[in-house]
Amino acid sequence: HPLDVAAKAAGKLWFGTAADIPGTGEAQDPYWAAEFNSTDFGEATPANIMKFVFTEPEPNVFNYTGAEQFLSFVEGTGKLVRCHNLIWQSELPTWITNPTVNWTNATLTAALRNHVTNLVEYFGDRCYSWDVVNEAFSDNPAGAYASNVWFDTIGPAYVVEAFDAATQAVKAKNLAVKLYYNDYNIEYLGNKSYAAQNLVTELKGRGIQIDGVGLESHFIAGETPDKASQMANMQAFINLGVDVAITELDVRLNLPPNATTEAQQVLDYYNSVAACVAVGDGCIGVTVWDFDDEYSWVPGTFPGQGYADLFLSNGPNEPLTRKAAYDGCLQAL
Ligand code: XIL
Repeated sequence: HPLDVAAKAAGKLWFGTAADIPGTGEAQDPYWAAEFNSTDFGEATPANIMKFVFTEPEPNVFNYTGAEQFLSFVEGTGKLVRCHNLIWQSELPTWITNPTVNWTNATLTAALRNHVTNLVEYFGDRCYSWDVVNEAFSDNPAGAYASNVWFDTIGPAYVVEAFDAATQAVKAKNLAVKLYYNDYNIEYLGNKSYAAQNLVTELKGRGIQIDGVGLESHFIAGETPDKASQMANMQAFINLGVDVAITELDVRLNLPPNATTEAQQVLDYYNSVAACVAVGDGCIGVTVWDFDDEYSWVPGTFPGQGYADLFLSNGPNEPLTRKAAYDGCLQAL
């Protein structure tokens, strides 16, 4: 069975992938496009084009041209869309990071809320879900709020403000879109996961909508939490009354791969997908952060590492080869 067909048979909503459209131009690669349009994938996440720098390049000037290109490629294929993301510390326009007027708590909060409101209302239920806040917590020390323009100006309230603005937009437009918190290193129990759990509890306590937590799952072969650890962590979130989803799965390794590291990668993919299946309905689906090494973000971000995805090719516009990691995912479904 193709991956998404198998995932649906296993009770998941999808097996999906990120896509950098228009971005890398992968949609123009016929082999990439054919695989993207196959029944391996029932969900798509825009890797970049809905982020702040693209959607609000100037204050209160919204540009949805690229996002519409992404959606026109995806809509009509039956795929659901995880819209990504509203508030993050990266890929921000300079008017946010280098304002000509210094931000105050009040002015930056207003800009944040305006951005969230506009995007949630504009895209409406074309989004299955929104990653409302992305990567708010630090690794050092784990679970502290990360220092960035939002936190440094507004404090931890920026996360509450973002979810509150999204909640108000959902109510105003009577939307079904689900609101997620999304982060990495929250795929296993530890201080960063506990911080995300506390956030869920706080938002619910305030009567603010939060439906799910995205477990990014950018893993390293041999350093991936095992199936039981991932299940225990997923269950901790589910017990708080939210869904979880694996949102950005890839398993990178030191280049070049060898038989040992590739076998480890297969096991790491298997364990991650198997945890989502075994934990039950609370884990709604698995999304990989692109499926083709050709277009993976890994080599550009982690020099010396790569081979992180389910397929490889000899270059752009060359046929794709399924890797053993693909079979690892399929076996788990
Ligand atoms: C990455 C994209 O894949 C890159 O193309 C871009 O240059 C940087 O962002 N966590 C996230 C994603 O939530 O938005 C990031 O995507 C990868 C890490």
